[in-house]
Amino acid sequence: MNVRKMMVIGAGQMGSGIAQVAAESGLTVLLNDMNDELIQEGFSRIQHHLEKRVKNNKINEEEMALVLSRIVPSNDLRDAHDVDVVVEAVVEKMEVKKSVFQTLERICPSHTILASNTSSLPITEIAACTQCPERVIGMHFMNPVHAMKLVEVIRGLATSEETFKVVKSLAQTMGKVAVEVQDFPGFIANRILIPMINEAIFCIHEGVGTIESVDQVLKLGMNHPMGPLELADFIGLDTCLYIMETLHEGLGDSKYRPCPLLRKYVMAGWLGKKSGRGFYDYSIDKSKR
Ligand code: NAI
Repeated sequence: MNVRKMMVIGAGQMGSGIAQVAAESGLTVLLNDMNDELIQEGFSRIQHHLEKRVKNNKINEEEMALVLSRIVPSNDLRDAHDVDVVVEAVVEKMEVKKSVFQTLERICPSHTILASNTSSLPITEIAACTQCPERVIGMHFMNPVHAMKLVEVIRGLATSEETFKVVKSLAQTMGKVAVEVQDFPGFIANRILIPMINEAIFCIHEGVGTIESVDQVLKLGMNHPMGPLELADFIGLDTCLYIMETLHEGLGDSKYRPCPLLRKYVMAGWLGKKSGRGFYDYSIDKSKR
């Protein structure tokens, strides 16, 4: 199948990024959210990124206008009646995702592929709530979408070969590198990344080092562009905790137990950059932090 038109559901951080790269690759994209204000916020985020690209002479004004013209606002899932692919990027809650997929199944034509950008929920379980599990797949973009090359393409137990091939080729059309992953908790990216972050938090918890020394060791010793605690603040400590819990529950191994200090920070509302305080204090100027 040649994908021409897609819908992205959820115009938040990830959905707006996915819509942007899809439109940049020439696709018509319906950008869906629950109301016009949320869609406009997503659209403004895209516009802001594109303006930066114009400023840096990566694209010109006409190209920016063309990309924006390919993004069509939608506040009604029924607009998905003629799309080839849907990429769902709503909140990370199983019941919300299931309800979206069940609605889509009734609206979309029989060739439409239903992809989820979930970072941790089982694709097989989302697929099982529909009558078309062979057309359900994971398409896990990384944050920020416009900058990161990787897309994990996750096969649910019933995902068909045809669905996999179309999504892999779509990711390539969008300028990404698709990596095939089987459906297990955390997939590959978060199965490795989040336990590393959790271990870094254990190092603080047990007094092995300070926040700065742990970050410095990984940056200077392993060439990581960001230290694990800085990265945890960027991802959101609540999200890190949620993924550790998913790994712990899904794999049943005590090595995935979340660090008590991570729980404590989340309990305190210290969620990282988005709340202004995590391992670092974002109310203070970066140079003095
Ligand atoms: P976000 O909170 O920025 O955006 C979610 C959007 O979905 C909101 O605009 C919300 O209004 C909308 N929404 C909620 N229910 C809806 C419904 N029923 N219909 C239409 N829109 C609905 O969240 P974010 O960070 O963009 O995450 C979205 C998904 O992407 C989640 O599944 C998350 O796990 C996944 N993800 C997040 C990454 C990250 O670093 N934030 C990285 C990779 C995947």
